[in-house]
Amino acid sequence: MNWDDPAETPERLVGGAADREDQAVEAALRPKDLTEFIGQERVRQQLDLVLRAARQRGATADHVLLSGAPGLGKTTLSMIIAAEMGAPIRITSGPAIQHAGDLAAILSSLQEGEVLFLDEIHRMSRPAEEMLYMAMEDFRVDVIVGKGPGATAIPLELPPFTLVGATTRAGLLPPPLRDRFGFTAHMEFYAPAELERVIHRSAGLLDVEVAAEGAAEIAGRSRGTPRIANRLLRRVRDYAQVRADGVITREIAAQALEVYEVDGRGLDRLDLAVLRALLTLFGGGPVGLSTLAVAVGEERETVEEVAEPFLVREGLLARTPRGRVATPAAWAHLGLVAPQTPPQPQGFGAGGGTGAPGTGQTGLFGS
Ligand SMILES: Nc1ncnc2c1ncn2[C@@H]1O[C@H](COP(=O)(O)OP(=O)(O)O)[C@@H](O)[C@H]1O
Ligand SMILES: [Mg+2]
Repeated sequence: MNWDDPAETPERLVGGAADREDQAVEAALRPKDLTEFIGQERVRQQLDLVLRAARQRGATADHVLLSGAPGLGKTTLSMIIAAEMGAPIRITSGPAIQHAGDLAAILSSLQEGEVLFLDEIHRMSRPAEEMLYMAMEDFRVDVIVGKGPGATAIPLELPPFTLVGATTRAGLLPPPLRDRFGFTAHMEFYAPAELERVIHRSAGLLDVEVAAEGAAEIAGRSRGTPRIANRLLRRVRDYAQVRADGVITREIAAQALEVYEVDGRGLDRLDLAVLRALLTLFGGGPVGLSTLAVAVGEERETVEEVAEPFLVREGLLARTPRGRVATPAAWAHLGLVAPQTPPQPQGFGAGGGTGAPGTGQTGLFGS
């Protein structure tokens, strides 16, 4: 591999979704029980109570909904729930269940107490969703036999089971489905100190030597996401092995991530291109999404769904009704100086002049 050729580096090192290598490695890195699970203190405490109480009653745990961005530990927690309950786990996903019959087949083969993990539950088909309502509430499904006017519904009793649903888009779940979960855990992005612990733990499992400052350097670029922290750790390990003595120091981590174009704050090439265009071509905005996308040579959707969420979260970019606007932090991050705010006309709007640079212009590029 040529370290200096960005064309040979992966497409998006800081994406939240799992790539093939992640899937292969993650099984080995997953915490196996609640005490090993780092961070998410509140979720962990609440879940511990829910599971402990169910165990004491000798009952099946309530249905659990896990919501949060990709890579925050939803799949990991579902497996922990099963492990803590001493129950087997069945794993499937919304997109895999296209027909109600697919779901009926899974539900009717569950054992008593089994955990059914339904990933991306917001992407299930409507008929399957309706079947799930009844299964969750009454542990019963109606299996339709035959077609047309002769079709009959045969009720089928199910053993009690625990549904663990995971979603990146809790807002897309129909309220009747959301209401049938006894416990909903909202997973937050991780603090840098928590990601450092994740990195140290993974480094131990991967048998990599990492200095405290090296872990901190990687954590600061991991966008609050354990999956990204683990992925960056693997790339930095490669670099440390080829270019140094294998030990991940702060300098080695910083050099490696420079090669991979992940900056000090976790922004990658796409994020930086969007930000730079907004600042240098449009004076910080406001500029419409389509114009911004053309300026960086990307699809609207790519800019909106891939780059912007993190920029917004980091307080570098704001979405306003008149278009995208850079914040003062964006100018500072790129080491650029914001143009002078045009003088505000007196008497218009209290506190004028506190707005972002460029908001004084008319909506020439407004979306
Ligand atoms: N709290 C955590 N502590 C340690 N490692 C974690 C934690 N959360 C996630 N991970 C790591 O991140 C990876 C991605 O987690 P995963 O559960 O697959 O995320 P999700 O299902 O939310 O996309 C896992 O392999 C696991 O090693
Ligand atoms: Mg997952």
